Amino acid sequence: GDTTYKQPHRPQYHFSPRANWINDPNGLVYYDGEYHLFYQYNPSGIRWGHMTWGHAISRDLVHWQELPPAIPEEGETMIYSGSCVIDKTNTSGFGQDGRVPMVAIYTGARPDNQSQHLAYSLDKGRTWTKYASNPIIDLKQKDFRDPKVFWYEPSQHWVMIVLLPTDRKALFYKSPNLKVWTKTGEFTAADSPATVWECPDLVEVPVDGTIERKWVLLLSMGNNAPAGGSGMQYYVGRFNGATFINESKPGEQRYVDWGKDYYAAITFNNLPRRGNRGAISIGWMNNLQYASEIPTTPFRGTMTLPRELRLAKMPAPIARYELRQQPIQELKPLLGASFQWTGTDVAQLNQSLASNSLAGDTYWLQLELEAAKTGVGVRVKKEEAAQGKGEETVIGYDPAKQLVYVDRSRSGQVAFKKEFTGRFTAPLKPQNGRISLQIWVDRSSVEVFGNNGEITLTNQIFPKPESRGIEFFGDGLRSVLIRSVEPIWK
Ligand code: FRU
Repeated sequence: GDTTYKQPHRPQYHFSPRANWINDPNGLVYYDGEYHLFYQYNPSGIRWGHMTWGHAISRDLVHWQELPPAIPEEGETMIYSGSCVIDKTNTSGFGQDGRVPMVAIYTGARPDNQSQHLAYSLDKGRTWTKYASNPIIDLKQKDFRDPKVFWYEPSQHWVMIVLLPTDRKALFYKSPNLKVWTKTGEFTAADSPATVWECPDLVEVPVDGTIERKWVLLLSMGNNAPAGGSGMQYYVGRFNGATFINESKPGEQRYVDWGKDYYAAITFNNLPRRGNRGAISIGWMNNLQYASEIPTTPFRGTMTLPRELRLAKMPAPIARYELRQQPIQELKPLLGASFQWTGTDVAQLNQSLASNSLAGDTYWLQLELEAAKTGVGVRVKKEEAAQGKGEETVIGYDPAKQLVYVDRSRSGQVAFKKEFTGRFTAPLKPQNGRISLQIWVDRSSVEVFGNNGEITLTNQIFPKPESRGIEFFGDGLRSVLIRSVEPIWK
């Protein structure tokens, strides 16, 4: 088949594999000038199966090079999700001749058992050896998966958070050497709307405007997410090396993303320390309701843009820590030709945009809206020849309900699964009477960041390549900046 990056629905600046199925990002880790993106990969098909860790690397977190698969399934044991660490002091003893081991901790999945396993690499993730004494933790469970491991500096030991997904319970373990693990705690949350949790992460995040850092527990919800189907929630609290102490108020739901396509996001281990920079996450841009039917070929599955995670400390009466997410700064060099407008007359804006024709079909938009006005927003990927009756994806703000929305019910191919179509919303209050929206449009996705990353809405779309129009509407627009986004595939 065609394995270039030119297919009609091929993401131009998001990672997708040349061919075949992918799901969750795995083992995100930085080492010696390279960012590693491993992922759930089927080496022999465009549907889920034969789970193997696929592998891509990047020097800038933006341009990715796909490498041969890293860790293959073996007999009946598939290689499910997990994480990677850099064992700098060779606690594991896997290192040889001064070479630092990169260690993968993943779930070995058999039809009737899931347990935790190790593999290591001494050549920067290119070749892997499975640990001879696997599994390292086996509770004789059918569902026990998705270990996230990190080094806990204050007590000088490794920490693992891993799930009993159908009990909706997180377990904590510690280890001096990655091989021998002792259970130290448990976390569950009676208020979670989900009945299944997958792909946990526990990460320390800076609080804006302070020297404080708090711990964020990220959980993927297999169902009952706000847009329907799968999604992600989070809790904020403390970590004492043994267990997570939740400080989020009971009953108060906190979602990572309000769109339909944001799942299994985890954060990088071993990032170079740069000032007070936040954690960096990547997610799988999909929903379990229809992931295996999305109409792309010869690949199926795309990663989201990497995001920086921070917290905002909200004053009373809200009095809580809230997640803030922004696309990483490294994306800025992709932004090209631009169009800028300020004013009040949307018809005039649409006219000057029409005579300006930005090249390409991938865009970044920044909109400033005055929230006191009637509904306002933008139609992207609009089928211009169809005179209002064709394809379009609508992103807007409803000031009466104080909601940002993305409507993809006419975004192109929507009928392949009934759960795909629809309009998805996120609550967002104006700041000083204004709303700002940052929108990343790729061939097959729209990611919206509202008011400095207070909310995000991530959704896939599958329009025809020739649906390229942009049209603004409503009388509250005050300024617009549009820039083309360069493809990452050469
Ligand atoms: C989430 C998930 C994980 C599992 C992996 C298998 O999408 O179900 O829980 O490890 O995918 O591919």
